[in-house]
Amino acid sequence: MDLEDTLLMMPGPVSVAPRVLRAMSKPMINHRSAEFAGIYTDCREILSNIFKTDNDIFLLSGSGTAGMEAAVGSVVGKGDKVIAIENGKFGERFKDIAALYADVVPAVFEWGLPIDLELIKEKLEEGAKAITLVHNETSTGILNPAAEIGKLARKHDALFIMDGVTSIGGDDVRVDEWGVDIAVVGSQKCLAAPPGLSIVSVSEKAFEAMKEVTKRPYYNDLLAYKKSGDKPKPETPYTPAIPLFYALQEALHIIKEEGMDARIKRHRILSEAVRAAVAELNIEMFPQLNESSHYSNTISAMKAPAGIEGEDIKNDMRKQGVIIAGGQERLKNKIFRIGCMGNVTSRDVLSTIQQLEIVLNKRGYIDSLGAGIEAAIRVIDRA
Ligand SMILES: Cc1ncc(COP(=O)(O)O)c(C=O)c1O
Repeated sequence: MDLEDTLLMMPGPVSVAPRVLRAMSKPMINHRSAEFAGIYTDCREILSNIFKTDNDIFLLSGSGTAGMEAAVGSVVGKGDKVIAIENGKFGERFKDIAALYADVVPAVFEWGLPIDLELIKEKLEEGAKAITLVHNETSTGILNPAAEIGKLARKHDALFIMDGVTSIGGDDVRVDEWGVDIAVVGSQKCLAAPPGLSIVSVSEKAFEAMKEVTKRPYYNDLLAYKKSGDKPKPETPYTPAIPLFYALQEALHIIKEEGMDARIKRHRILSEAVRAAVAELNIEMFPQLNESSHYSNTISAMKAPAGIEGEDIKNDMRKQGVIIAGGQERLKNKIFRIGCMGNVTSRDVLSTIQQLEIVLNKRGYIDSLGAGIEAAIRVIDRA
């Protein structure tokens, strides 16, 4: 397989633009210099716009999980209650991280099912210092009700920590309007930069909470990030992954050039096109929705069709040069997932659907070609 000619349609890492790759080959600089401060400041300004926040923004060297751990570990300690909402693999990860630092109150729902807001309300009424939510649950393709959780958290004076790892930069996220105290994104998802950075926004209320916590993480201590970030020449506490900062800066300029509204619209249309295509091919979506949950606009999770394993579809697609994802853990073989993240185009989506039809046809699941493509084109043309 020619890796330079492979279509990456998985939920991150996503393809990065050639100009982003080129940016990474620039010479190293002093990370305690005006040059670095300029890059850091530029990134933070563009990211404020993407997060829709006036809160502080920090860039951490480490993938999305580093940001999740920094968020939880910096604001809670043993004896503090954290409500951890789980309806998929990444909600479970937040719960596991929270259990290391604090006392977890689990709010667990079957993977792929919506969360029950009434139950969350009841748990909040019993008191909690923080609540964690995965906005876009990548493992199941569900978009969870972040605005509603934010409202409930504010009412009960709990810190709202949100994993926006696969929504921020691709879907509509409103950190300030929703009252998100700490929001996290990963560089390799909708921002379309290489993997290795996580970005967090932090509210004043969260900084206040951190001052009371004695055992914060050392490397990813957000108070240390605040101290370094507030210097006249902003910097990071430790040596940052400079080539990734170059890359992220370029990727953010691509986002600025496109505009967030257009970017969100593109993600929505392309994900809708995937859903329309698979419906036409008699493939069911995996998430079960209620009025507060929605299909993800950055990742579509489908049930594997009868008689075919999810891994077979993934492997067949790989042989056709398209990388999609299977199901994780308990969902392995039960589902397959197609990502629409970053700078993905209608050409990418149509190629993916075309190859999916070929795969399904070869396996005898469909007996004619073209219905999925036609449905996808109709959605894209209508937009
Ligand atoms: C919703 C969500 N949260 C967290 C992560 C973890 O990010 P990383 O693999 O960058 O550590 C992922 C990765 O896929 C994700 O989709």
